[in-house]
Amino acid sequence: MARRDLLLKSIRQEKIERYPVWLMRQAGRYMQAYRELREREKDFLSFCKNVDLAIKVSLLPLEILDVDAIIIFSDILVPLEAIGIKVKFIEDKGPVLEWDGNPESLKKFNAKETEFVYEIIKGVKREQDEVPVIGFAGAPYTLAAYAIEGHGSKNFRKAKTYMWEREEDFGSTMEIITETLKVYIENQIRAGADIIQVFDSWLDSLPVVDFESMVKPYLIELFSYLKKNYDTPLIYFFRGSSSFFDKLKGIPCDVLSVDWSVDMAEIMRRTGITLQGNFDPSLLYSKMEVIEKKVNDFLNSLPRKTGYIFNLGHGLAPDMSQEKVKFLVDTVKSFKL
Ligand code: CP3
Repeated sequence: MARRDLLLKSIRQEKIERYPVWLMRQAGRYMQAYRELREREKDFLSFCKNVDLAIKVSLLPLEILDVDAIIIFSDILVPLEAIGIKVKFIEDKGPVLEWDGNPESLKKFNAKETEFVYEIIKGVKREQDEVPVIGFAGAPYTLAAYAIEGHGSKNFRKAKTYMWEREEDFGSTMEIITETLKVYIENQIRAGADIIQVFDSWLDSLPVVDFESMVKPYLIELFSYLKKNYDTPLIYFFRGSSSFFDKLKGIPCDVLSVDWSVDMAEIMRRTGITLQGNFDPSLLYSKMEVIEKKVNDFLNSLPRKTGYIFNLGHGLAPDMSQEKVKFLVDTVKSFKL
């Protein structure tokens, strides 16, 4: 079997000889090679827009870790800039966004403004055909929360106050972002993305009772549109997995990527959908023997021999050891089914 097919086969729940593995934030500052390339552009968004550099960075995890998929190097905030929100990345602070909160001040998304993203996908496909290429976008709620709050946050108080006090404006904002994402993602598919992952990183800041009316309709709209028009597999990653898992029925995606708040073996027993995740990234601070034991115990506990993709419950952090990350990937790959 061609290696290229391993991850796609596991998504389709066909027979595989080992679980596929890739890691969220696999191209990042924990890698010496990333830090070296990163020095070539001062500003993070300029780095994302430098197509040649972004292609090189995307390829690093295949070269260094030998993972089973490449996620293209970019950021979820890229399309927000294209609808008129000012986005800046401040070192050691993260993203800062500027928007007056008026949905009418947002401009219509023009897919040409994010042409560089599609060029990166084409470039990564051109450079290798060993593993599938994952295109990605932020989910409507996570992007709206960023746009309204103006920066990352533990509780997104400003974003939620806006959502509760200005329900109609919140709805319009979600709608504009959802329409933007449809076009942004379909352009990634047309450029050759084999898989799409949608990141709902801040869903855990939302009270579960607000999900049904404030967030779910937009996820259904987005995923239904993509499912209707393309057969590219869709992965939905969401934080707050234990609270939201049972609320997702009716969202047409192919894979649910969960954080460490759920017991993977237990949800596999009660659901048929393909799953991804949910190794706690903090385990990478442990000794190699501990990592090895935790991975093997975890994989041994899984009741399914396919329909699963190994990943973390959230992304790798800049202070992690590349050696241990590589060891983690190797350990998963040597687990035979
Ligand atoms: O996964 C990958 O390797 C692909 C590249 C990727 C990045 N960001 C590169 C990046 C992906 C898939 C993302 C998605 C992203 N960006 C998410 C969703 C995933 C998640 O982690 O929940 C979110 C919430 C963002 C927003 C974002 N971008 C933050 C909060 C930060 C700052 C983080 C920090 O540590 O400073 C970024 C910047 C960013 N995006 C970096 C990288 C490698 C670090 C910036 C740098 O190198 O200077």
